Amino acid sequence: MTHAFQIVIFGASGDLARRKLIPALTRLHAEGHLESEFAVVGVARRPKSDEEFRQELAEALDPEDRSAFEALAPRIHYHQGDAKDGASLAALGSRLDALPGGSEAGRLFYLSLKPDLFAETARALAKAGLTGAHPGERAAWRRVVIEKPFGRDLTSARALNDDLHAVLREEQIFRIDHYLGKETVQNLLGFRFHNAIFEPLWNRHHVELVQISVAESIGVEQGRAAYYDETGALRDMLQNHMLQILALVAMEPPTSLDPKALRNQKVDLLRALHCPDAAEIGCASVRARYGPGEIEGRPALGYLDEEGVPPDSRTETYVALRAEIDNWRWSGVPFLLRHGKRLPRRFTEVKVQFRTTPLQLFNQPEGMDPSEFRRRLRDGSLCQIRPNVLTLSIQPREQIHLSFGVKRPGAQMVMTPATLGFDYREHFGESPPEAYERLLLDALTGDQTLFLSADEIEASWRYADEVLEGWEGPEAPPLLEHPAGKWGPEEADRLFLGCEGGWTRG
Ligand SMILES: NC(=O)c1ccc[n+]([C@@H]2O[C@H](COP(=O)([O-])OP(=O)(O)OC[C@H]3O[C@@H](n4cnc5c(N)ncnc54)[C@H](OP(=O)(O)O)[C@@H]3O)[C@@H](O)[C@H]2O)c1
Repeated sequence: MTHAFQIVIFGASGDLARRKLIPALTRLHAEGHLESEFAVVGVARRPKSDEEFRQELAEALDPEDRSAFEALAPRIHYHQGDAKDGASLAALGSRLDALPGGSEAGRLFYLSLKPDLFAETARALAKAGLTGAHPGERAAWRRVVIEKPFGRDLTSARALNDDLHAVLREEQIFRIDHYLGKETVQNLLGFRFHNAIFEPLWNRHHVELVQISVAESIGVEQGRAAYYDETGALRDMLQNHMLQILALVAMEPPTSLDPKALRNQKVDLLRALHCPDAAEIGCASVRARYGPGEIEGRPALGYLDEEGVPPDSRTETYVALRAEIDNWRWSGVPFLLRHGKRLPRRFTEVKVQFRTTPLQLFNQPEGMDPSEFRRRLRDGSLCQIRPNVLTLSIQPREQIHLSFGVKRPGAQMVMTPATLGFDYREHFGESPPEAYERLLLDALTGDQTLFLSADEIEASWRYADEVLEGWEGPEAPPLLEHPAGKWGPEEADRLFLGCEGGWTRG
């Protein structure tokens, strides 16, 4: 960035701003990514001075970020105001004009507000003349970042898109899915489209199944029970983050890294997801919530006993789906998606399981007659070939592993499993940057590649809505219960029907 810019964070005293946005800006500044003239203005309704605001932000930072924050702090300001209120925004406009860069600066309006304020704030910003086209638009750009959740179903997501499009151009709208800011999620693209060896295998002829897991060990977070109970596991995690991972794993290669080329491939993939009908929903999905149990040796409450959860709640905290993609590349390959809270361990992982060789030559049990060996392999009662599995670990470990068989030393031809591995921290000698650092930088440079288009949002809600609708219908799978600290209900194993293997445990 060579030109002055201003970042306005609405909801600046909130949890997201304190825990993610300000630490990300602190690190970007310390690492020299924000070299131009710039200012950050936090907006919220409660009165406080610039100094009080800076103090509050400093106290919320990890100790290792505090000294770097001192260098950033003089550029941070506080503006008391209501995001929906014209007079507050007019005053904000005057304040911004008086800050470095003035009206000629690029302006990023980050709506870190409750979702029901997104549309109203965008309208109010436009009415106050803060997001309209500027004669010097190349430098004096106006962009708006929208946080998640983007709607709670297809109808509300479409309505929000329409409301935003009424006052902003699509190029001005940056819809966040912070998973896309993670290095390991971006590496799904790099890994697939830079390495030629996997492309010929990346299809229904060679892939038996794909698993995508997002496991959390935490339960519903304090103070979030009301929000979570209205949302559930499918809306909170599967509709957005998991479908984004699925799209990156399964989409066709883009012709360039142009944001449109890439995002359109994701849209095509999401539109090709087969929506289970009423008759299929019971076999294609499992839903559950955690009951009382134990996590790391300590007793853990069940979901219904968590503070703020209504006693008659029917909300799922666990979802497993057997998704299918109706296109030439993937027809017939199950994509098994699973997310749950209060599972034994936190991890996010993609596993691509390849088909086994057509003939097993090795590992005949000693003393077994060769024809018996062949017969038992054929009828499935003896299965010794382990499929090759490519594991892309997204968090907390950032790794890639490929499993394969090697000959065990000795006179007999006995094959045993081994792995080839890559570890991000070992290889690069550092941890990957936080997702919000990359996303803020991209929003400042106007790169929409890692943000969601209106079409992507609507395509993923179309699929999620069909599943949710099926859950209301006569063939709905029951809402099961599994003990906290266990790997979810056994019923989820049946989603593997016809395939080798079971759910990964990270
Ligand atoms: N927290 C997370 O980890 C997280 C993760 C992913 C997505 N998100 C999304 O990020 C957004 C913010 O979440 P949060 O957890 O930070 O919320 P939060 O802790 O409840 O903070 C909300 C902030 O908005 C301000 N605010 C409320 N109404 C306002 C108004 N009319 N005008 C101006 N400011 C107003 C509040 O301060 P005043 O009361 O002083 O106005 C406060 O600073 C939400 O959309 C959430 O879904 C959050």
